[in-house]
Amino acid sequence: MTAEIISGKQLASDIRGELKQEVESLKAKGITPGLAVILVGEDPASQSYVRAKEKACAEIGIYSDDNKLPSDISEEKLLSLIEEKNSDPSIHGILVQLPLPKHIDEAKVLLAVNPDKDVDGFHPVNVGKLVVGQKAFLPCTPHGIVQMIKRAGVKLEGANVVIVGRSNIVGKPLANILMQKSELGNATVTVCHTRTKDISKHTIEADIVVAATGLPNSVTADMVKDGAVVIDVGVNRVPDDTKKKGYRLIGDVDFDAVSRKASFITPVPGGVGPMTITMLLYNTVDSAKTANN
Ligand code: GUN
Repeated sequence: MTAEIISGKQLASDIRGELKQEVESLKAKGITPGLAVILVGEDPASQSYVRAKEKACAEIGIYSDDNKLPSDISEEKLLSLIEEKNSDPSIHGILVQLPLPKHIDEAKVLLAVNPDKDVDGFHPVNVGKLVVGQKAFLPCTPHGIVQMIKRAGVKLEGANVVIVGRSNIVGKPLANILMQKSELGNATVTVCHTRTKDISKHTIEADIVVAATGLPNSVTADMVKDGAVVIDVGVNRVPDDTKKKGYRLIGDVDFDAVSRKASFITPVPGGVGPMTITMLLYNTVDSAKTANN
């Protein structure tokens, strides 16, 4: 079998087209959706994610309020900037790029964001709402993954999904979305992680495998069954002298071998990445709509 590629790039572009129209109609009512992006320090991957987020905002007409702070900024100053954005009516979404420098307490920072502006869905109030099935901002990467699976026409109801990776940003929220009694859920979910005894034993049974390990080639062809749907969340830089930047991006899945076995697969780049940003735009537009109802 040769897998069909689920193009996150294409799907993201379709959804962004729809969002652009929504932004135009909000603007006609005098509302410009605003997103505050806060980046602390100079981590190259974070800088590149933030640039992509700002560019995407500009493309669909969202006002992006950029806040680049030095890596030695005090926790207190960061918290007061968040407080300022919390009470600024032109800001509908606040995003603090992670990871934060070691001297800053990440949990405290996430708790400081007004849950009504928490477009990342990382505030414990929103995490809790998701767990108990109340309406909340859905974290962007998991939400993007679910949209990709659904729009590829893959049935989630009753499907056995195995997620490899238990992060707060991907694995845990994705498991919660997929197990909900909702149109984005109704799946049977297993979460594997570094202490799982035999990851292959789980993945080989899965209708859908989600690789979010952060390790290149950690999901191999012998780990997936014929016809499985494979979603690759990994973004790993590997040195490549033929590229202008000196590196290229690969995922967590051994793409070539797995795509000969799977029914659907997502590429890296051009898969989950563009969808993550798109769902951030979606949450920001959603926040602007509800803030003015
Ligand atoms: N770092 C890696 N992924 C994310 C994300 O989705 N949001 C934020 N704020 N930081 C991240």
